[in-house]
Amino acid sequence: MTAAAIDLAGVRARFPALASAVAFLDGPGGTQCPQTVLDAIGAYLRESNANLGGAFAASRRSDELVEQAHATAARFLGCRAEETIFGQNMTTLNFALSRALGRTLEEGDEILVTRLDHDGNIAPWLELAHDLDLRVRLVEIREDTTLDLDDLERKLTERTRVVAFPLAANAFGTTTDATRIVELAHAAGALAWADAVHYAPHRPVDVAALGVDVLLCSPYKFFGPHLGLAYGREDLLRSWRPYKVRPAADEPVGSRFETGTLAHELLAGFVAAVEYVGEVGWDAIKAHERALGQRFLDGLPRRCTLYGLETMDGRVPTFAFRVDGISPREVAEALAARDIAVWDGDYYAAEGMARLGLQPDGTVRAGFVHYNTFDEVDRLLAALAEP
Ligand SMILES: Cc1ncc(COP(=O)(O)O)c(C=O)c1O
Repeated sequence: MTAAAIDLAGVRARFPALASAVAFLDGPGGTQCPQTVLDAIGAYLRESNANLGGAFAASRRSDELVEQAHATAARFLGCRAEETIFGQNMTTLNFALSRALGRTLEEGDEILVTRLDHDGNIAPWLELAHDLDLRVRLVEIREDTTLDLDDLERKLTERTRVVAFPLAANAFGTTTDATRIVELAHAAGALAWADAVHYAPHRPVDVAALGVDVLLCSPYKFFGPHLGLAYGREDLLRSWRPYKVRPAADEPVGSRFETGTLAHELLAGFVAAVEYVGEVGWDAIKAHERALGQRFLDGLPRRCTLYGLETMDGRVPTFAFRVDGISPREVAEALAARDIAVWDGDYYAAEGMARLGLQPDGTVRAGFVHYNTFDEVDRLLAALAEP
C-alpha cells in the first residue's frame, strides 16, 4: 500500500449513511457524516449542553468546546484561532462580513465577482451595491469554464475594493489560480475574498499560503454538520465596526462577527469532522478522487455532453453534463429510481450556466468525494448509457 492509498472499506464503514444501497454522488450539495461526528453532536447535547460563561461545569465545558472549535478551524484553514468565525452557513456569514466591510466603502467603489461563483459570493455584493451605490462587475469565463484572468485584469481599476472569487466552481468543478488572483487583487489595492465551499472537501486550504484576506467555507460540505466557517485577516477584522450586541465580548476579534449563541453541538461535530479528515489524509483523498474522476471521464457515454474541463487537471471531480434529449430533472429522477443521488439545475451558479447557454434547467451534476467507489462510478455510467 502506498502512502496515498485509501482504505475505502474502512472509510465507508465509518459512515452509517453509506450502509444503504444509495450511491451518494450529491456531495457538492452536502456530504454524509461519519459516526464520530454524530457521536460528538449527541455527546455534547447529553453531557455539556449549556450557554457560555457560567460558573457551572457544563458551561465551562461549553467554553472549552468553543475554544477548541476555533483552534481546530485555525488548523484546518492555516490561520490563528482569533481569525476564525463560525456562523449558520457560508451565505449568512458572507452577508454579515460584506456588510461590515461595507461601512468602509463609498459610492462608486467597485467589486469584482466572477461567472464561476455561486450566488453566495455574488448576491451579498449586489445587495451592498444596491444600498451604497457601488458597482459590481462580472469577470468572464472561457468556453471550457476556466476563469478569464485577462478579463479580470482588464476590469480592475483604482476603484476596485474587493475581488470575490471561488477556489473551485460548484457547478463545473473548475479550480482557479488563486495565487495569481490574489496577486492581481493586491496589486490593485483590493481585498482577495475567496469562496472555498466547493474546494474544502477536496483539497487542503491554507489561507496564509494563498494570501487571501477573507475566505469562507461550509463544514457540511466536508463531512461535518450544517455550519459556516470564515477566516478574516486579523488587522482587517479589527478595522471593521461589527454589527453586534453591546455586552458581547470584543475578543477574540473573530467573535465580534459571531452574533448570538452559536450552535455548540455542531461545533462539536465540526471538531470531529476535521479529526476525521486528518485521519484519512489529504494525499489519500486527492489520489482516490482523481482516479474516480478519471474513470467517469473515460466512460462518459457519447449521448452525454460534459460542460467543463475534459481531464482531471485544473478541476475537482464535480461534473456538469446533459444527456441528449432528456431534461436534467428527468435524468436525475431516472437515476434516483436506480438509487443514484445526483443534482440537477443551476446550483445557484446562475451566471456560469447562463454564459454557457444552459439556463433555464441547467445540467445534471454528479460529484464524487473520497468515500465514493469505482463501482458507484460504473453504476452511474451504466445508467447513463441506458436508452
Ligand atoms: C461554491 C459554493 N459557495 C457557497 C455556497 C453556499 O453555502 P451555504 O449553503 O453554506 O450558504 C455553496 C453551496 O452549495 C457553494 O457550493
